[in-house]
Amino acid sequence: MNTETVSTLIRSITERLASAGVEDAGVDARLLVRAAFDWSATEQLGMLQEQPPEDKLEILEDHVTRREAREPLQYITGSTEFYRRRFSVSETVLIPRPESEQLVTQALSFVRDREIDNPRIADICTGSGAIAISLALEMPATEIHATDISSGALGVAKQNADDLGAELVLHEGDLLDPLSGQFDVILSNPPYILSSAMSSLQAEVTREPNLALDGGHDGLNVIRPLFEGIAEKIKPTASAAFVEIDPPIEEAVMKLARGTFPHAGISFLTDLAGLTRCISIEHA
Ligand SMILES: C[S@@+](CC[C@H](N)C(=O)[O-])C[C@H]1O[C@@H](n2cnc3c(N)ncnc32)[C@H](O)[C@@H]1O
Repeated sequence: MNTETVSTLIRSITERLASAGVEDAGVDARLLVRAAFDWSATEQLGMLQEQPPEDKLEILEDHVTRREAREPLQYITGSTEFYRRRFSVSETVLIPRPESEQLVTQALSFVRDREIDNPRIADICTGSGAIAISLALEMPATEIHATDISSGALGVAKQNADDLGAELVLHEGDLLDPLSGQFDVILSNPPYILSSAMSSLQAEVTREPNLALDGGHDGLNVIRPLFEGIAEKIKPTASAAFVEIDPPIEEAVMKLARGTFPHAGISFLTDLAGLTRCISIEHA
């Protein structure tokens, strides 16, 4: 690394990351430097022509080497942003994606439009807890339950809930099995990637837990029992379920949803790129 100034340091890290095939190498180089030296964006700007602090260079070298090996930036820095808040992440959880913020927005709009007082909400396959915790903080008078089959993931969700001061109940177990009673809104971002597509994922994504990604040969291994659980535990009126999916499985998911929820209004919601991102299942 060229440690003459912070600016040359960033440039040399950018070159190393770009050679390793990292997309947006310049952005990651800046973020790694900020994280290692514990600087805000403004502090980093002010230091560009200065010499970097020597005592943190070893940590930075370690982080750059990990990023060159295509470890996701968020696992290295230990956090990511979701719905305007910072969440801790580790290799035991999927890194929450901006697309999944749509589940939070949909749940908030549904509860507010229908003027449901003290709604009961469940987030199935909660991972880091980003969706459930965001809702708990946006709607404090809500009873929120979140489940995941991975104890490691629930440990991260508990830490995030404690750090952000969110009140919710975390359950370890299979899909909706740990939950009792009925819910006004059920959300889920389940594993839905076709097994056949798993080997062609971006290098960084292959570092995320298989359990969070692989949806089986048709992408529906988890969605099938998830829909059955939702059918059992969603209130029969004035309720909604929002489940994240992606385009390769949309037809199969629509067919399954029509069969499982014959009395519901079912539609797809698209993301900012215009791609199918979520199925909405509403009972009037
Ligand atoms: C795609 S990740 C979503 C994580 C989080 N909701 C998010 O959007 O960032 C799917 C999560 O489902 C969990 N999972 C997989 N199979 C499950 C099952 N049968 N029951 C409950 N959770 C499951 C995984 O451990 C993983 O945390």
